Amino acid sequence: MRTQIVAGNWKMNNDLPETEALISNLKRQTKTSHAEVMVAPTFVNLYHAYEALRGFDIEVIAQNMHFADNGAFTGEVSASMLESVGVKTVILGHSERRAYFNETDEDLAKKVDTALKNNMRVIFCFGEELADRKSHNHKKVVETQIKNALFHLPDDAWKSIVLAYEPVWAIGTGETATPEQAQEMHAFIRKTIEEDAYGIDIANNVSILYGGSVKPNNAKDIFSKPDVDGGLIGGASLNAEDFFKIVNAF
Ligand code: 13P
Repeated sequence: MRTQIVAGNWKMNNDLPETEALISNLKRQTKTSHAEVMVAPTFVNLYHAYEALRGFDIEVIAQNMHFADNGAFTGEVSASMLESVGVKTVILGHSERRAYFNETDEDLAKKVDTALKNNMRVIFCFGEELADRKSHNHKKVVETQIKNALFHLPDDAWKSIVLAYEPVWAIGTGETATPEQAQEMHAFIRKTIEEDAYGIDIANNVSILYGGSVKPNNAKDIFSKPDVDGGLIGGASLNAEDFFKIVNAF
């Protein structure tokens, strides 16, 4: 069975006291599902979060990372820096990084390589914009994003890749893709991985998360779809009770 994952992307929210409060609340929650649980605080609070969650079944992950090993990249954070504060998984390619910080498929391919070289797991995000869906180009856009950033990888790299389909029009808007839209895209992604490159075993083993306005009241329907292996949660992950309702929706 594929790994089920529910990851909270806290984005640029929560200063240190707020991070401490949210983590205290997370520690009070009870997990009744088999899903792996992850949270992604801002860089400055990663080490605190890692220490505070030590011994709990919640992995602390990063929201981004630079592709260079080190050097003159003011304001950036490297893979080894993340590893040194306990981080083993990094989100790459979030649509906000692509849109506001001009991250290209080419940059992302390099970031993925660097993360894997450092033995990190990658949650690779991609997804179409509303105009792409309206013009029926959404599958082509997603296919291109995945191929450009990931299809140079050798077979064995895929054990460290988690995919996250996040249609841009559903992020922070309250407008969720329907469970059927999510399932259709996830099945298409799996088919693309199988037929265009890697074969059925790799395609069947990669976890594909859905992200975009997942809430306690819609998580169960979305997670019930056969090719949806979990969620990447923004707004609802900032509340511990809501987040664990989503975790326990499996
Ligand atoms: P929302 O859940 O707030 O729509 O955000 C989704 C997201 O971007 C997670 O990475």
